[in-house]
Amino acid sequence: MAQPENKRPRVLSGMRPTGKLHLGNLVGALQNWIKLQDRYDSYHFVADWHMLTTEYANTSELQSNIQEMVTDWLAVGLDPEKATFFVQSRLPEHAELYLIFGMVTPLGWLERVPTYKEQLENLQGRDLHTYGFLGYPVLQAADILMYKAGYVPVGEDQVPHVELTREIARRFNQFYGEIFTEPQSLLTPSPRLRGTDGRKMSKSYNNAIFLSDPPDVVDKTVRGMMTDPARKRRYDPGDPEKCPVFDHHKIFSPPEVIDRVNRECRTAELGCVDCKKMMAHHLNEFLAPIQERRKVYERDPQKVWDVLAGGTEKARCVAQATMAEVRAATKLA
Ligand code: TRP
Ligand code: SF4
Repeated sequence: MAQPENKRPRVLSGMRPTGKLHLGNLVGALQNWIKLQDRYDSYHFVADWHMLTTEYANTSELQSNIQEMVTDWLAVGLDPEKATFFVQSRLPEHAELYLIFGMVTPLGWLERVPTYKEQLENLQGRDLHTYGFLGYPVLQAADILMYKAGYVPVGEDQVPHVELTREIARRFNQFYGEIFTEPQSLLTPSPRLRGTDGRKMSKSYNNAIFLSDPPDVVDKTVRGMMTDPARKRRYDPGDPEKCPVFDHHKIFSPPEVIDRVNRECRTAELGCVDCKKMMAHHLNEFLAPIQERRKVYERDPQKVWDVLAGGTEKARCVAQATMAEVRAATKLA
């Protein structure tokens, strides 16, 4: 049962606006957000400034990416009556708090963040030797602490950022008094869902199935999916655990189909062509109501922007109150 809004513990999480979302985003984040929205005072925002830390050289699609992403949020059942949705850059308070946190955050803390060195090496075609990219987790700390959120629902990769947020909160509080509460990561238990080529599903790997893919596109993508590489011929037995098609069965197919695939793949009774047909069928059934709801917002995108505008004003109240405290504590006002 939903509790009164002000009694519910607060969660906050952001997502960089990558445009249309895929099944990996759904099982890795959105399904968890949906579960949380009844029991928590949920804030979810579009991290457009965070997007700039890596994509600063090409912002031409930023607004359409925001619109597409939030359209998917609403299509999967995130509900603006229950949770608050906003856009980071519409709230200059985030930039102000980021600046102040920048004053108290030692460089060494930032250089030690595991995602920093990893991304410097892995993200090709962009120069990430910028001040903004190093400061990524400071901005994230501002996002989180601004709302005094108790919990931050994130994937494993973001845990070091939440840990750093706690350290920044502690350091700020030591200098200026107890303003901030230390948030905790709320780890999203997400089932494994590899992309069509067996790697982690990601837009940039070109191996994703999108929530908005129509049935014929899903059919075609699934037909081209990698299977257990040991199963070269129709009569070779397979190991479904080694196959990304089975990952999808486990999430989108009914139990009797999962059982059947699990048995008949191992004995080579079931061929990959038929197995994929079944999976695509159940996936399309799962996506149908989502795409039905999506159409409402596609026909009238202003609805999406209205949701964001409403949420932004609600977030602004909280952000302004926090910044008033921060300015007073730091003797800036
Ligand atoms: N860094 C997060 C990601 O890449 C996005 C993000 C920005 C975020 N600010 C946040 C997540 C605050 C949780 C809380 O996924
Ligand atoms: Fe994968 Fe299905 Fe082929 Fe087994 S039968 S390898 S689970 S596609």
